[in-house]
Formats: sequence, C-alpha cells, structure tokens
Amino acid sequence: MTEADVLAAVRQFSQAKMGDDETGHGFDHIQRVVGLADRLVKQYPEADRVLTVTAAYLHDVIDEKLVADTAQASQEVRYFLAQQGFTTSQIETIFLIMDNMSYHKTLDGTAKPLPLEGKIVQDADRLDAIGAIGISRAIYFGGHFGEKIYDPAVQPRTAMTHAEYRNLNNETIINHFYEKLLTLKDLMNTTAAKDLAEHRQQVMLDFLAEYKAEWNAKA
Ligand code: ADP
Ligand code: NI
Repeated sequence: MTEADVLAAVRQFSQAKMGDDETGHGFDHIQRVVGLADRLVKQYPEADRVLTVTAAYLHDVIDEKLVADTAQASQEVRYFLAQQGFTTSQIETIFLIMDNMSYHKTLDGTAKPLPLEGKIVQDADRLDAIGAIGISRAIYFGGHFGEKIYDPAVQPRTAMTHAEYRNLNNETIINHFYEKLLTLKDLMNTTAAKDLAEHRQQVMLDFLAEYKAEWNAKA
C-alpha cells in the first residue's frame, strides 16, 4: 500500500466514526485539523507525515465525549491500524498522542510529553478552537449544552480542574473565551502554529470588543 492509500483508508475510517457529532467535533473539524497539521508538518521535515496526519484524523475517535466505551473504541482503532500495516511501535505513538493531547489533560497536569508529531496535531486542534471558526464552535457548543451567551454578572473562572471545566452550570459562552480560548495562543508548541494563532487571537479580541460595545448600546 502506498502512503496515499493508507491515508485514504484512515480518512474513510475517521469519517465513518465522526459523521454525525453535534458538539462541534464532527468530520468538518477533523478535516480542518488534518489540513492544518499537514500544513504545519511541512515546516518540520524531521516529523513523520503519515503518523501526524493519521493521528490528526483519529484524534477525537476515542474521546470520552463521543464514545460510550473508550476501551472498545481503542481496540477497534488498533485493529484497523494494524490492518493498514502500521507497526506496533507506530500504533503506540498514535495512541500516546490521542491519549495525551486533549486540553483537559493539560488542565489536570496528567498529560505525558508528546512527540513532535503530537505537538503538531495538538497545535492544529487548538488552532481550530480559535479565530472565526473557534467563535462559531464555541457558540454551537454552548447552544447545544444550554449555556447563556453572556451575563456580565458572571465572572470568568480561573485555574479550573477538569471537573470544573466540564461543569457548565453558570458557564457562559463569552466567559469560555476568557477561561480557555484566549489562553491557547500562548500554549502553542510550534512557532509555525504560534504565527497562525496571532491573527486568530486578534479576530477573537475584535469580536469580544464589538460584542460588548453592541451589548451596551455603544456601537
Ligand atoms: P478537547 O477535546 O480538545 O479537550 P473540548 O471538548 O474542550 O476540546 O472543546 C471542543 C470545542 O468545544 C472547542 O472549540 C471548545 O472551545 C468548545 N467548548 C468547550 N467547552 C465549552 C464551553 N463551556 N462553552 C463553549 N464552548 C466550549
Ligand atoms: Ni479535536
């Protein structure tokens, strides 16, 4: 199998798994993360492109938010990867990335260090949480879970644990920007992603300033 054949199979597997998510983790998110990861990896020739793109396609497939039984989902992914000719050590690397890249692991300080391929996929996933796309995903997610859009009386929370992050009582969509989205720029691993994050950060800052001005009938 050529590299292109393997990636086409991985793409198809991911699409079948991600298809109908309604929390902002659908296949459109996956395709953007793959596109960004593939763009970033070109700037790091020492990174393995097939591992990077494969991890990008699969990064949400075994997420606790999306599947009821993560152990069974993991088994399925392992079996699939072996069928595509990935070695045991490559499969371990892909799982190390999937198991340790998510934001809540970082919050709890339990994440293991990521290889360069994982740093790239994590950056691509975080880039897709900010900027214009990030704004739309936060609103979509907040609407799905019944958050208020804004309440000036509710202060953003600081230094949250994973449990607090997932507790959406009293959470507002606008506060989510201060609690998480505006902090992502400085958490980027690669300088290539930091550069892209600068512009997306400004898009969010402009949105928040405009939103508050309109809220207060000042714009
Ligand atoms: P990860 O799987 O990387 O840990 P999350 O599930 O925390 O990511 O976030 C996925 C998407 O949902 C992101 O775009 C994020 O900003 C958005 N999101 C997460 N929590 C909230 C929230 N409380 N309000 C609005 N959007 C949220
Ligand atoms: Ni993701």
